[in-house]
Amino acid sequence: MAKTTFVCQSCGSTTHKWSGHCDACDSWNTIIEEKAEAPASGAKGAALPRGRVARLVDLKGESPAPPRITSGVAELDRVTGGGFVPGSAVLIGGDPGIGKSTLLLQALAALGGKGERVIYVTGEEAIAQVRLRAARLGLADAPVLLAAETNVSDIIATLNEGDVPSVVVIDSVQTLWSPVIDAAPGTVSQLKAGSEALVRFAKSKGACVLLVGHVTKDGQIAGPKVIEHLVDTVLYFEGDRGHQFRILRAVKNRFGPTDEIGVFEMSDGGLQEVTNPSRLFMGQAERAAPGTAVFAGIEGTRPLLVEVQALVSPSALGTPRRTAVGWDGTRLAMILAVLEARAGVTLSNHDVYLNVAGGLRLREPAADLAVAAALLSSLSDSVIPHGTVLFGEIALSGAIRPVGQTEPRLKEAQKLGLDHAVLADQGEKAVKSSLAVKQVATVADLVAWVASRSKGLRRIA
Ligand code: TYD
Ligand code: MG
Repeated sequence: MAKTTFVCQSCGSTTHKWSGHCDACDSWNTIIEEKAEAPASGAKGAALPRGRVARLVDLKGESPAPPRITSGVAELDRVTGGGFVPGSAVLIGGDPGIGKSTLLLQALAALGGKGERVIYVTGEEAIAQVRLRAARLGLADAPVLLAAETNVSDIIATLNEGDVPSVVVIDSVQTLWSPVIDAAPGTVSQLKAGSEALVRFAKSKGACVLLVGHVTKDGQIAGPKVIEHLVDTVLYFEGDRGHQFRILRAVKNRFGPTDEIGVFEMSDGGLQEVTNPSRLFMGQAERAAPGTAVFAGIEGTRPLLVEVQALVSPSALGTPRRTAVGWDGTRLAMILAVLEARAGVTLSNHDVYLNVAGGLRLREPAADLAVAAALLSSLSDSVIPHGTVLFGEIALSGAIRPVGQTEPRLKEAQKLGLDHAVLADQGEKAVKSSLAVKQVATVADLVAWVASRSKGLRRIA
């Protein structure tokens, strides 16, 4: 008899009774009733059957690099670590409408053009809609095979017919429906069962299966997180709907580096690769204005220059506003506290807004210095000199700590025509760069440096 369990649609944790709140992931109204798969007959209490002895081998040994299927879309190949691996499963998650279907249709068209057998299985759109999109993208003649199917058995049967495909896209896993599971499509049980079957197909036949998963906010359908462990590679497609930039980010990769990003621009003709993302995220940095600072970050293996913008204005509110877009709000609060405690810069009676240009999300603590400089620049109404790049981590003590990969950061700044750099005191280590380098040891040093550029309109400390 099938047992009933209660499954959180956001994180997949199970409980024995219904609750409005999931204790595991702290989300509300995400727990729904699902019938657990019936255990194999006699499983409970029965002795395990006698097993087969596996061969033990030494850790040392030959391990040839996996073969790769390159799409020719350089930004995509970079994120996967040099192309898709046959026999692997890749999850591509992202908000609805961010451009997952567009990206994958373009990738399949590129692969099909290279003679690979590629199949696009759509469960969300009708064939006509996919054809319409292909036409818009100028890919109407691309050798891509289409199927509109949601039943997992039918999909597997279709894929098993004829030559083994190189790459298969399933758009999306949330529409998958397995006839042996007694639950609605979009539930955790259905999502897991469908994905497992497709991952098994990938492993057994040597095809690369790309699973599209919508990130869900309200828990009405299960999110892609619940199948992350099943797949070899997890990519997330991110971006701000208001901006045209999209970032493909690897968060798990059994065959390559993680944290690598690919940058695309959404245009009328689909996604275009952005080969020089620094130029894009530097915004209008050419026209230096108070409150802007340029940060040299590292995304994966690639340096990236980004403009950080701050607005500091006297607050009319008892509790001043603090808003950060593209940067961690807690980290912003910490920097404000350090500036106040270690450099005597009073910001507690000011509203503070922070924004990272282009809709990018910064995760590196190395951006602290640029954030602090942008804040000080806005507060003092002074301009950080045009062509200056900043990076360094701020400690609670007010010390500025050096960060890794100084050279590639400086090199990228040089490549984009910047000529000054402000960074942490490097101690004994000499900084090899053609940029004029200013080293600051504490936030007080940074305040003094910004103040020396201030037109004297407002005093900061
Ligand atoms: P889509 O790939 O359908 O998103 P997802 O599969 O992640 O839900 O992309 C949807 C958005 O992209 C839609 O709002 C329109 C926009 N778009 C363009 O701007 N240009 C294009 O050429 C295409 C095909 C889509
Ligand atoms: Mg889609």
